[in-house]
Amino acid sequence: MPRGTSRGPRRGNTVAGAEKIAVLGAGNIGGTLAQRLAESDLANEVVLIDIIDGLPQGKALDIQESAPVLGFSTRITGSTDLAALADADIVVETAGLARKPGMSRSDLLTKNASIVGGHAEAVRMHAPEAVVIVVTNPVDVMTYWFRTQSKLPPARVFGESGTLDTARFRWFVAEALRVAPRDVTGFVLGTHGDTMVPILSLTNVGGVPLTRLLPAAKLASIVERTKKGGGEIVDLLKMGSAYYAPSATQAELVRAVALDEHRLLPVTANLEGEYGLRDLCLGVPVVLGAEGVERIVEVDLSAEEKTAFHASAEAVRADLKILAGLSK
Ligand code: 2OP
Repeated sequence: MPRGTSRGPRRGNTVAGAEKIAVLGAGNIGGTLAQRLAESDLANEVVLIDIIDGLPQGKALDIQESAPVLGFSTRITGSTDLAALADADIVVETAGLARKPGMSRSDLLTKNASIVGGHAEAVRMHAPEAVVIVVTNPVDVMTYWFRTQSKLPPARVFGESGTLDTARFRWFVAEALRVAPRDVTGFVLGTHGDTMVPILSLTNVGGVPLTRLLPAAKLASIVERTKKGGGEIVDLLKMGSAYYAPSATQAELVRAVALDEHRLLPVTANLEGEYGLRDLCLGVPVVLGAEGVERIVEVDLSAEEKTAFHASAEAVRADLKILAGLSK
């Protein structure tokens, strides 16, 4: 594998991008993500890993058999053995329990921490050079947990949070304005939970500030719907949580790393003084490339947004305290 001190875009035998991507957890999110990654030929090899024998192997083979029809070159395999992580360039942690109706993401805390903690040790052992994208909920806390348990450099462990919430927010805005979804840009920052902060002051539609296009009452209802976006899907599905939009946004993050794209995206990143916060992971805009988080971008927030952002940080700290108690 072409590992070196510099991680430029990888050029393997068949595709541009990473040599190997490992997806931990072959549930709805892991399976759909593996499919998206294989179909977009982002790596020579994708390995899907899960504890349930047959599940990762079956999904991988099923995806692989679509290659002749869809024309992708990625080799995709499944395994129950964490040693299959060996030398992965990028690892996506999706394993863990998903919410059921009535549960908050924080309700998953202790169970998922033990799964994520085990995987963090396995990554340290088998793929210490990897960039890790954490998806398991509550994601801001699990990202912090993965980073501390794996002892990987902070820049190489980040979580998917704002990318998904922003996708939902952008869709709701596009739907209200009847414009192309891709023309809506903006950020949802803070935690991937009820206290997330859609940043209206930084949302544009083709460059036009959103606040000029929709009345305040409509904006307020979009903000509320965004905050409950994951829960809306949980309530509709009645079993499990969302996976199409999550896997799409995760694939966007993988692509940014695999192709060293230097994308400016909101993710949950390790803060060491940025936004006046330290020693926690929270959703902020960052520049993402082959090394993970290249830098955190500090944007001006309105007084109201700042207050909401700090309330979001407090919610994450409360969960971190519970975890700290567990690790004693
Ligand atoms: C969601 O918001 C799975 O947390 C994820 O749908």
